[in-house]
Formats: sequence, structure tokens, C-alpha cells
Amino acid sequence: MVSSTSLTSVLASKQIKEDPESLQIWGKDWTNGFVVAPSAVVFPESLDQLQDLVAYARAHQVKLVPSGGRTGLSGGAVASQGEVVVSFDRMNKILDFSAKDRIVTCQPGLVTANLQAFAEEQGLYYPVDFASSGSSQIGGNVATNAGGIKVIRYGLTRDWVAGMKVVTGSGALLDCNAGLIKNATGYDFRHLMIGSEGTLGLIGELDMHLAPQPEPQIVMVVGVPSVVDLLDILHAFSDKLTLSAFEFFSDLALQKVQAHRKLPAPLANRVDNYALLEFDESELAKAEEAFALCMEEGWLVDGVISQSQAQAAALWQLREGISESLAPYTPYKNDLSVRISEVPGFLADVDRYVNEGYPDFEVCWYGHIGDGNLHLNILRPESLSLEEFFHVGHTMSPKIFELVQARRGSISAEHGVGLLKRDFLGYSRGDDEISLMRGLKHLFDPDQILNPDKLLPLTEA
Ligand code: MLT
Ligand code: ZN
Repeated sequence: MVSSTSLTSVLASKQIKEDPESLQIWGKDWTNGFVVAPSAVVFPESLDQLQDLVAYARAHQVKLVPSGGRTGLSGGAVASQGEVVVSFDRMNKILDFSAKDRIVTCQPGLVTANLQAFAEEQGLYYPVDFASSGSSQIGGNVATNAGGIKVIRYGLTRDWVAGMKVVTGSGALLDCNAGLIKNATGYDFRHLMIGSEGTLGLIGELDMHLAPQPEPQIVMVVGVPSVVDLLDILHAFSDKLTLSAFEFFSDLALQKVQAHRKLPAPLANRVDNYALLEFDESELAKAEEAFALCMEEGWLVDGVISQSQAQAAALWQLREGISESLAPYTPYKNDLSVRISEVPGFLADVDRYVNEGYPDFEVCWYGHIGDGNLHLNILRPESLSLEEFFHVGHTMSPKIFELVQARRGSISAEHGVGLLKRDFLGYSRGDDEISLMRGLKHLFDPDQILNPDKLLPLTEA
């Protein structure tokens, strides 16, 4: 157990919290089902303080759990065993902006929406976006290589990181890439840190690329009777125009979000599935052509198109509000990806498995189908306690992950591995890969102080 007296050798007492309420708030993310038991929460304010913290942790064998906006869904920021949570809430500033480079330098605790707003003030655009952008922090986005709703056009967080300063678990301060576009000088530690879930280093500063502002966007929601046709619809539209988003949700997901946010149905009649498409205003005529073709083919039955920015935002709510609307059901969440071409077959495989083995469970599908990423949420029946339900979820996972593995997919497309998927990593990564990952962990974090027990399967004692 760490005492605040010893932590005050590195930080001011106002930067340390140990009251039970704070421990519960900062000791977890949005994931359910894990014990929350940190010993303290600390709020560093500078790179120097991050280095001091790492030196302190090494000297006293204290474990550190980096924590951003705590919106994670795989338990990557859960502190279960007396760790010290390192919150980036006070490292939330924009430090510099270069209009010529279109690069903003910021601290990791900057909230994603604040980076987006800053970009807009400069007449630019930060395109990585998702429902939790109002709370998530850019450092957490980088640590999990966050994806979201615009990946089909703009890529992942990884594609926007121009440089970073990071304090490794061995205490070294690495200055990676410095905003360069070309840099062929060997191993790129920036990319190693992206998606490493705080297991190798504490990200202390980031250089982020910004994009030119896009045209105003138009949103279309279409009814799709059969998921098998989703790919044909995607191709029909992509052949004619550049899509900014191609999202999918089942009617059950729509019902939940409608009930939760009191939203009207987008179409006159209910359909089994829906796709939400977004594109530039100037592409409207091409989108209408693609829509007509899909109607002729019978892939679509109806559609609605936004007539204003307000209507576009209202249609987006149908997709972006789903996760929050399911939270009261404490769902067993899966974040899976396969190649786009494998999506219909994979959906059918998983549906068959769940419907045959667990006919009483409600299964809610939605996701970023344009990039092969599907969210499978199994809703907890009232008859099962949280513990019982998670136990069942954990027994279902191996079978679902076998179906993922059979199609060479990923057991975590964008939420990360954290605690939730740790024991299943082998379904997506080979033994040789995992042993190389362990080697890197030893190299970067020789005393094993950073985000213990996350990401890598535990080894036998
Ligand atoms: C989403 O796509 O809505 C997010 O990844 C959150 C979730 O999967 O629940
Ligand atoms: Zn998602």
C-alpha cells in the first residue's frame, strides 16, 4: 500500500487523492465487472513529474495505471490491486500550433472534443470521432489507437500522430519523430507506443496532424432487410463517391436508442437492419444515383436524407446513442473485426451460435461496418446477476473468438485488450508474436510497474 506521505516526495499534496470516492471514480473506466481498488490517484502536471513518478515507482515497487477520460470498454484503465492511478486530467493543454505544418502540440489529457474545437477555430479539422469524444482524452485515444465513425475516410488515431514524448517504464524520456513526415531512421517507437495501452510508457506530449476542413456533410439512413446486402450497398456507393462513414445497426439496437433518447423512427416501417451513410454535400447527386440502383436491386427498402445540419446530427444520434442506451443492460461487449468481405458470413456464424446456445439472450449488433468492425452486445437478462452474466459471457467468448480466428479477424478492433480480452489474446496473435510482445514489455518496463496485468496474458506463476 502506498502512503500519501511518500507520494508527496514527488508531487504536491493537492495532486494526490486518497478518499474512497475518488478512488472509485478514477480507479475504473466504463467497463463493468472488475474490482476497483487503487491505493491513490495522482495528477501530474508536467513531463518532469511523470519522470519523477516513474523513478519513484521503480524505487518503491509501486504499480502505475495511466488513466485518461476513463471511457475505455476493455478495462485498460481499471486499477484492481492497490495501484496508483496516474490521471492526466491536469495535463490537458494545447502547447503549440503550427499552421504551416498543420500540427498541434498538446498534452495527453486534452479532451478529444477540445482538440476538434481547436482545429475548427483554425479552419481545420481533427477527424477521429466517436460518441465518447466529449470525455475521452487524446492520450487515451493514442494508447488504444482509437477508431470510431470516420475510419473509412480518415483512418485511425495512429494516422494522425505526428510525434510524441513518452516516459518509458525504465524512466527514459523518448522524443519520437518530432512532427516529421518523412523519417527513415529505423524503428519508430511512436508507432510502438500507439495501441500499447500504457504498458510500455506514459505518453506525456503529442504532436497531432490536422486535416483541411471538409465540406458540410449529408447523412442518409437506409433500411436494409438482409445483412448480406450491406456489402453490395457499400460497394454501390463507394463506386460513385467518397463516403465519410458507413455505419450499421440492427432494429433491436434502434429500438433501444429510440426508447432511451425518445427519438422518432427514421423510416415509416421497421426493417431488420439499417445503414447510416455520410458524404460531402457536393456528392449528393451521385449518392442519389447509388440509392436508386440499390433500390432497383432490392438491397434497400427505404431511406431518409438530412436536409440540414440539425437533421444530420439527429440522424447520427440513432447510431451514436446506442452504446449509452445499452449501458443499463450491463451488456457483455464484444468489439470484433474481420475483413469487410467476411462480414456477412461472420455475422451469420455468430448469430447462429448465440441463437442456438443462448436463445433467451437479446443480441444487439451495430458497428462500423465500412471498416469490418462489428460491436456485438449481449444484453443481461434480469434473471441473472452481473457476476453470473459475466461468467456466462466468459464461457461464450472462446467460441465466438474461434469464429473470429477462423476468419483471421481480431478479437478487439478498436476498444483494446485491457483486462477484458487479455486471456483471449492468443485468438488473434500468434505465440511468437506474444513472446516478442513480452520481450518488449521487459525492455521498456523492466520492473513491471506500468499498467500491470493488462494486454498480455498472465504467465504461469
Ligand atoms: C461505438 O461504436 O458505439 C463505440 O465503440 C462504443 C460501443 O461499442 O459501445
Ligand atoms: Zn465503435
